[in-house]
Amino acid sequence: MMIQPNIVWHPTAITKEDRQHVNNHKSCVIWFTGFSGSGKSTLANELDYQLFTSGIRSYVLDGDNIRHGLNKGLGFRQEDRIENIRRVGEAAKLFVDSGQIAITAFISPYRKDRNQVRKRFEQGEFIEVFIDCPFNICEIRDPKGLYQKARNGEIHGFTGIDSPYEPPVNPELTIDTVRYTVKDAAEIIINYLKDKGII
Ligand code: ADX
Repeated sequence: MMIQPNIVWHPTAITKEDRQHVNNHKSCVIWFTGFSGSGKSTLANELDYQLFTSGIRSYVLDGDNIRHGLNKGLGFRQEDRIENIRRVGEAAKLFVDSGQIAITAFISPYRKDRNQVRKRFEQGEFIEVFIDCPFNICEIRDPKGLYQKARNGEIHGFTGIDSPYEPPVNPELTIDTVRYTVKDAAEIIINYLKDKGII
């Protein structure tokens, strides 16, 4: 993408570190990736709840919600998904610059797009969490009835049916949402954040 020639970055008076200091924790993005129905939104909300009730500043950016506003008008063709993830990556970066913990719940099916987002962050700030739920279980769960619609040919290009999903090769965390309860899964992430000295 072209950067406009006459736009100059304006340095800020208050830095990210100043904001982290006031918040009493570091900031990062916890990037969930996985099939529709794998449990991303449920886990994102439980994690947000556990962080919030511990006095930590966190916020969830969720695919279905962001597509009602910021990304209204984007569909599910490859170029739309690329732009969806690029914008969410930039929004998450603003949250991290503001000293908060951004939790993102998007299928984000393409490895390259997730890696592009990773590059926008400092070392250790981008925490990729693979929500690892077998495809057939996601399809059985079918919380929104969309798998059924895709099977009936009412939706085209549905992830896992006739659109690809590329699992992460080296995610910071992998969470099996069949094996763990939502509460336990959130605690695994909280323990990771503690181990890394983020919270
Ligand atoms: S992404 O691929 O661009 O990352 P995103 O997470 O924003 O997807 O949106 C996925 C949600 O949109 C799914 O959970 C599902 O509810 C809905 N959806 C509608 N059409 C599709 C489709 N063709 N493929 C996947 N999800 C779809």
